Amino acid sequence: MSSDKERFRKTKKGTRAVHSGTSPSKNSLNTPVYQSSTFFLDDNAYDMWMAGKPRAPVYSGRYYNPTNRAVERKIAHLEGAEDALVFSSGMAAICTTLINFLGQGDRLVTTRNLYGGTVGVLDQDFTRFGIDVHYIDVRDLDAVEKALKEKETKVLYCETITNPLLEVSDLPKLAALAKKYGATSIVDSTFATPISCNPIEHGFDLVIHSVTKMLNGHSDLLGGVVAGRKETINKIWEKLRNFGGSMDPHQASLVERGIKTLQIRYERSTKTAGLLAEWLNTHPKIKRVIYPGLKTHDDYELSKTILSGSGNMISFVVDGGDDEGRKMLNNLNVVSQAISLGGVESLISMPYATTHASWTQEARVAAGIDLGFVRFSTGLEDFEDLKNDFDNALSLL
Ligand SMILES: Cc1ncc(COP(=O)(O)O)c(C=O)c1O
Repeated sequence: MSSDKERFRKTKKGTRAVHSGTSPSKNSLNTPVYQSSTFFLDDNAYDMWMAGKPRAPVYSGRYYNPTNRAVERKIAHLEGAEDALVFSSGMAAICTTLINFLGQGDRLVTTRNLYGGTVGVLDQDFTRFGIDVHYIDVRDLDAVEKALKEKETKVLYCETITNPLLEVSDLPKLAALAKKYGATSIVDSTFATPISCNPIEHGFDLVIHSVTKMLNGHSDLLGGVVAGRKETINKIWEKLRNFGGSMDPHQASLVERGIKTLQIRYERSTKTAGLLAEWLNTHPKIKRVIYPGLKTHDDYELSKTILSGSGNMISFVVDGGDDEGRKMLNNLNVVSQAISLGGVESLISMPYATTHASWTQEARVAAGIDLGFVRFSTGLEDFEDLKNDFDNALSLL
């Protein structure tokens, strides 16, 4: 059989999600779970280790595990990247990747409009190590250029679709600016998934995902990944080996299975999200709906050039504020209240009481998270059932 790269090189994403990277052994159809912390030291392993080559097959996770490797190859192919590296969580992927580029005194230019955990680690830890974390609005390209020009910048960091405001970043322009000023461009593309957007094609150096979300898709594990040029991934691998945030092979096996259905899950939940967003937009008890696929979204035109689907995430504002929002959530029967996203089941939460609980009300509202702001992750349930669930929950307010 020809190599994986040759067999699936020219295939489309649905086929890649099923087949790329999958590494059968003997006559198995699927990649086995290599449940071994260590591997026999044969001549090849000794040679690789002694030459300091990355991923010597000597020790699991932090060095090399064939089950993890299957996931890495699958994601790399889906992203159109040379290589990828998996981690124990999205945060491990983000921190290990950033630490590869940043040391004392180095500048990172980014936005506060990121996943709360990312802002948390930047504010609480990166600054503690003397890293200059410089926040701007990455939608203001003049501000980005000014920030990159005024001081040498090592990394420009953003999200493709932001959490929870669902703003869309202008990836081609941001990548071009980073290139012009010699910064490495890194994007967290968790909300877009590789089905909707391939940031590397738009000029980004590295793309990160919290695999916990849509890639795995079943709300049963955490995981993370970074994809990009092989040489860069090998450098980041050295940091994974040192810091140790490695994926476990059981975790990898579940992730591999999850990704096989990524495309149909993404397409189905995106279609339902589009219908729900339209319907919520007409509901008298909803003040505002934020969804990149709605014409009323600020980035509607931009999103059409960057995304090939508007995604499964919808944010909206319940009339009456946070208390009314909480009541509406408590009235839901099909939709579950939980903070994650991208699973087969629809999940709902309010940032004021979860991801942004440490923010003051003024800061939240100033950032666009109005009173009554709700974040919804559309799952695979039937549209009619979700619509009826919301209709009933809103009618009880
Ligand atoms: C956009 C985004 N990036 C990164 C993370 C962190 O991922 P993990 O929870 O897998 O560490 C999250 C988690 O919610 C997220 O929403």
